Amino acid sequence: MPHDHSPQTPGHQHGNGHGHAHGGGSGHAHGGGHAHGHHQGPGTDFDWDALATHLEREAELQSPAVTEAAHWLSGLLDGAAVRRVLDVGSGPGVIAGLLADAFPAAEVVAVDQSAALLDRARTRSAGRVATRQADLPDDFAALGTADLIWSANAIHHLGDQQAALTALAGALRPGGVLAVAERGLPARFLPRDLGVGRPGLQARLDAAHEDTFSRMRAELPGTVTAVEDWTAMLAAAGLVPSGTRTFLTDHPAPLDRAAREYLHVNLSRRRDQLAEQLDDADRSALDALLDPEAPTGILVRPDAFYLAAVTVHTARAA
Ligand SMILES: C[S@@+](CC[C@H](N)C(=O)[O-])C[C@H]1O[C@@H](n2cnc3c(N)ncnc32)[C@H](O)[C@@H]1O
Repeated sequence: MPHDHSPQTPGHQHGNGHGHAHGGGSGHAHGGGHAHGHHQGPGTDFDWDALATHLEREAELQSPAVTEAAHWLSGLLDGAAVRRVLDVGSGPGVIAGLLADAFPAAEVVAVDQSAALLDRARTRSAGRVATRQADLPDDFAALGTADLIWSANAIHHLGDQQAALTALAGALRPGGVLAVAERGLPARFLPRDLGVGRPGLQARLDAAHEDTFSRMRAELPGTVTAVEDWTAMLAAAGLVPSGTRTFLTDHPAPLDRAAREYLHVNLSRRRDQLAEQLDDADRSALDALLDPEAPTGILVRPDAFYLAAVTVHTARAA
């Protein structure tokens, strides 16, 4: 059973050991899912709890786009009528906080398997976000109902994505909206020719990541392959599609230190997870990018930027 955590109890630890989880990961910190305590192979198993700062920084970088998305949802929903909002697979709660800003009259509940990430969500929200620990899909039925259910980059960590959408659709109140942020475009942050190695490194990293992502999905418990047409899947869940929009995150160079540190962790995870799929030249180029002092390094180079697109698919309960 999930545990409800009121926002008044920050720091209360409900660790259930669910920190080690499936998932490869690169541009979007993919990974996570059920914690089953066994190794899933290189690039598909890591510790969610340890990624808290990384997830937080990524969500902070994308905050303007998510805020824009939340206002769009508010228009779809007639914001005043929204009393309860779930953020499913919330991670450290950055987005749940933005949802609380956009829906000030609603109770916003961050839902995640990771007690450590939910602790983070409570601490950073200063009482505005409630949390509920839930191991999905087992705990779907215990989440309660909501007027808006938001889920970003989490459904793909569940073996049966269609069943997950159907369960969430069943938790919507009449007229409520399910908003699923999946895919979009992978973030880009380097020039095509970065002056080290062969041009096009980032496209090759993205291609290698796709294989890791597919392997992560293939290894999930109860995995089901499906055409990932999110609008069609929302309709198959019994909802009426209400539009898909993409929101751009555009941080031009020069980046601040926090963004550079985020990219450094991002690249070092790619270096670890994709090592076997890359050739020597690309591995060396990654080493040059990771060098904290070299002028080629991501922490120093003046041309690093951050450009990403979040796509949000929505559908309404009848
Ligand atoms: C890539 S993170 C996304 C975090 C946040 N939604 C965002 O977009 O920044 C995926 C989140 O889903 C959670 N998660 C993965 N599998 C889960 C499961 N089976 N049950 C509950 N939460 C899960 C992880 O703990 C992690 O916080």
